[in-house]
Amino acid sequence: MYNEIDLDKIDVSHEPPTQEPARQYYFMAKCREWVREFEQKNGRRPCFFVQTFGCQMNARDSEKLVGILETVGYCQAEKEEADFVIYNTCTVRENANNKVWGRLGYLNAYKKHHPHMKIALCGCMMQEAEVVEKIKKSYPFVDLVFGTHNIYKFAELLETSFVQEGRVIDIWKDTDKIVEELPIERKYSFKSGVNIMFGCNNFCSYCIVPYVRGRERSRKPEDILAEIERLAADGVVEIMLLGQNVNSYGKNLKEPITFAELLKQIEDIEGIERIRFMTSHPKDLSDELIEVMGKSKKICRHLHLPLQSGSSRILKAMNRHYDKEQYLSLVEKIRRAVPDIALTTDIIVGFPGETEEDFLETMDVVEQVGYESAFTFIYSKRTGTPAAFMEEQISEDVVKDRFDRLLKSVQSIAAKKAELYTGKTEPVLVEEVNEQDQMLVSGRLSSNFMVHFPGTEEMIGKIVNVTLKECKGFYFYGELVE
Ligand code: SAH
Ligand code: SF4
Ligand code: F3S
Repeated sequence: MYNEIDLDKIDVSHEPPTQEPARQYYFMAKCREWVREFEQKNGRRPCFFVQTFGCQMNARDSEKLVGILETVGYCQAEKEEADFVIYNTCTVRENANNKVWGRLGYLNAYKKHHPHMKIALCGCMMQEAEVVEKIKKSYPFVDLVFGTHNIYKFAELLETSFVQEGRVIDIWKDTDKIVEELPIERKYSFKSGVNIMFGCNNFCSYCIVPYVRGRERSRKPEDILAEIERLAADGVVEIMLLGQNVNSYGKNLKEPITFAELLKQIEDIEGIERIRFMTSHPKDLSDELIEVMGKSKKICRHLHLPLQSGSSRILKAMNRHYDKEQYLSLVEKIRRAVPDIALTTDIIVGFPGETEEDFLETMDVVEQVGYESAFTFIYSKRTGTPAAFMEEQISEDVVKDRFDRLLKSVQSIAAKKAELYTGKTEPVLVEEVNEQDQMLVSGRLSSNFMVHFPGTEEMIGKIVNVTLKECKGFYFYGELVE
């Protein structure tokens, strides 16, 4: 377990160790020397800015980057105008990439006046060969580039970029390695993501994640439990278990264990009040899991169950391994076991070959299920995925029209679902002081809805009872019950 290691006790005059994580501790000690030199020269510590794009997995990875930067002595800057800027990128849709290219232009302009500044890029986008080629050719001001598989050696890469002339680029194709016991700096004191697995084996035909995150690897249950125990001891009350398909957790371990079994063990950890998880692939959601959810006192009454499409024909082309009927009967089974569960989903519009009839099947599932919330995406062609080669890519105006109709339906159903909560008193985990109105605090219900109510900063991290007074569509105004 990572406990404040004393970097000053590490002898950096010798060769670095070959074992992990000792090797990374050695490089952290080296980086700290560099930071001290910077401080002596400039009369201040160097500062960093980490910008995260993409999903919760990336957010957790960024906490690992921050953990290392703070351990070696950097301080966190409020803005991008910092000594070290790192973008942790996402490539799930084209617009995720475009955001990065756009902001790099801005960073370049800033760096021209601050030549000592270092710019680093990491994350999913860097696992694409064309992206790295483009950076090599057209973005000479980027100093350090690494990918998803070698993020654990960030300290080593950082140190290399201090001592080596020119830029450092290190991308691995894949890995079977999981390095434990590295520092992590949490964004919130009272809640935390916890990786339970990395990568994905599902190869949904539209999706680039398996190519950029590699094959599925589960962490050992004892490592996960130890991490959660440590988090609980540190004041964390809510955890979010993270994986691309948590329902297949544990299958590839030497001693296999099911996700449901892992949940039962986590439930026993004292101090943890709420357990969430993301994402559940419908094809692997087991009866055992439904049973555990039904009985649990800590698992939140919320399930994110990506539908992607309501058309069985399109689901087949997407390689999702379930059809419309199977999805609907799964929903029915879950609702029977956990009647108060809130269901949310992801939907893609405009997958190649999607007809008006296919789209209406999606609309039909949306109506039948009645999601509390849904993320709707326009299909984005990703180079290297099977769907990119499919004929019949759908024209932009047809997709736009379907997207608007879907969004309207999703929003009006969600508002009706939310309305049903009005008047209820629910436990709420207080997350922050409301940005717009400092008299209010904002918190989350077990069902994941947000509520704003009069309160004070001291309430942050506590679970309190709140009466939901007024429904605003996808959030509430409420009142504390003393
Ligand atoms: N592992 C998760 C999803 C990770 S990506 C799962 O299986 O549900 C998050 C969401 O992005 C997906 O659910 C999907 O709806 C969307 N997505 C993935 N690839 C996409 C693409 N090429 N175009 C549009 N949306 C996409
Ligand atoms: Fe992508 Fe499918 Fe894996 Fe989710 S399960 S990450 S959508 S390939
Ligand atoms: Fe994006 Fe990578 Fe997550 S592609 S959605 S950041 S796994």
